[in-house]
Amino acid sequence: MPTESSANQKKMDQSAPRTAEQLASLLARWADGPGSLHHRLTESLTELIAAGVLRPGELLPPERRMASALAVARGTVVRSYTSLSERGLVDRIQGSGTRVVGTTETVGSIDVTRSDGLYARHGAAIDLRMAMPSMLATTTAAVARVQFDAIDVATLADTEPAGLFMLRERIAHHLTRQGLSTTPWQIMVTSGAQQAIVLAVSGLVQPGDAVLVEAVTWPGLTDAIAQRGGRAHGVELDREGVRPDALEDAIQRLRPAAIGLNPHHQNPTGSRMSAQRRREIAELAAAYRVPIIEDRALAHLAFDGQVATPLADHAPQHLVVDSINKVAWPGLRIGWLRADADVIERLRPVRAMIDLYSPTHSQLAAIEVLRDWEDIVDERVDGLRRAADLAVDTIGEVLPTWRFARPRGGLVLWAELPGGDAAAFCDHAARHGVLIAPGKQFGVDAPYDDDHVRIPFTVPQPALLEGIERLGAAWRSFERSNAPYPAAAVI
Ligand SMILES: Cc1ncc(COP(=O)(O)O)c(C=O)c1O
Repeated sequence: MPTESSANQKKMDQSAPRTAEQLASLLARWADGPGSLHHRLTESLTELIAAGVLRPGELLPPERRMASALAVARGTVVRSYTSLSERGLVDRIQGSGTRVVGTTETVGSIDVTRSDGLYARHGAAIDLRMAMPSMLATTTAAVARVQFDAIDVATLADTEPAGLFMLRERIAHHLTRQGLSTTPWQIMVTSGAQQAIVLAVSGLVQPGDAVLVEAVTWPGLTDAIAQRGGRAHGVELDREGVRPDALEDAIQRLRPAAIGLNPHHQNPTGSRMSAQRRREIAELAAAYRVPIIEDRALAHLAFDGQVATPLADHAPQHLVVDSINKVAWPGLRIGWLRADADVIERLRPVRAMIDLYSPTHSQLAAIEVLRDWEDIVDERVDGLRRAADLAVDTIGEVLPTWRFARPRGGLVLWAELPGGDAAAFCDHAARHGVLIAPGKQFGVDAPYDDDHVRIPFTVPQPALLEGIERLGAAWRSFERSNAPYPAAAVI
């Protein structure tokens, strides 16, 4: 009969080893401070071992992968692992890797979500993986006006899982002005569009259900579907978003419980639905009685100022997910879900279970942001348009063989490589001190033909220019290392 400790041991053996990216994330700002890089790395790893974060018996990632994740030379990691071994903190055994000394029987499994890879921290590289817009002067001015006496802050009597009523009113007004008549009872304030996605998925999807999404999409959506036990299926898309014929075919074959779309400046492809395509998709899904979760987090970032009305304008059963984070500032973490009032009522306890309610200060700030919405959008779009132009021109010069469409809005550029595997290139680029996400990070169905990379243009200008220069150097050496052998060398 297995003892409890042997069962625990089995659990530990079954748990996936920590990946290099996960360890890099734990190391956070390891490269800051005095001393050589290998010394800094040794000190930071020593701290993690002493704190019990790296557990006895745990296998450290292979040196090459660790070097790639940290964007340093492999020699830096080799020297650091050797120093840890000299300190008696790890065992280095030829052929079986580097393990923290000792054993433990209480290690659970580490679940990894796909979007996590976009947030892992690295010390010494230019990070072009996250699409995080910066603070704005207009947002700062709006947030500075926050009135704490607008509500009863002493007792928080106005607090409620669906959000402060005055914010729900303001959001309803905001949507009504965009062409979708909305009441405050149809709104749940959330901590960002991501939480609204999670709530919408939990309201519509049961374990085993199929959910249709764009063939490459925001991994926060597919993570939410997987976490609910659903199965995401990719639908082919073109420059105007999902193709109606492909969507209809998938609905008939898979009988999905829901469709999750990001139709505006789609992350990562940048595609944007025309008015005609929007109507076609909204009516098609409604005809089959399949609700669409429309993610509008990037809808307002239109370089030509054209912000489409929500799909629910054509068919009221569709849901809307949106936030102020990409326009005003990601640190505010305020978004919303718009659905039928009874759906919102059903989701109230689910939301309360996750985090009770959104931070009151951020909700008050969101009211001010929505008051100044047009000015804030203008400032954001102006900055992003200029950054996108700079990225387009610089990539065109430095990487003339890469193919991409000029972004019409949003935060990222989606570039097709002329050859080679994008994930392998991104590993290679990390060794040249620049981090970008390969297409497969966003691909839904396996196998995914990984020939694209996503380049956000949200970092400050000097980092953007330097990052693209480094991508150029990385690409030239990647091409050389992947070049077929010259005929004379083939025997
Ligand atoms: C398409 C898309 N939807 C939702 C989100 C999450 O937005 P929020 O920061 O409002 O949670 C993101 C974040 O980048 C995104 O790209």
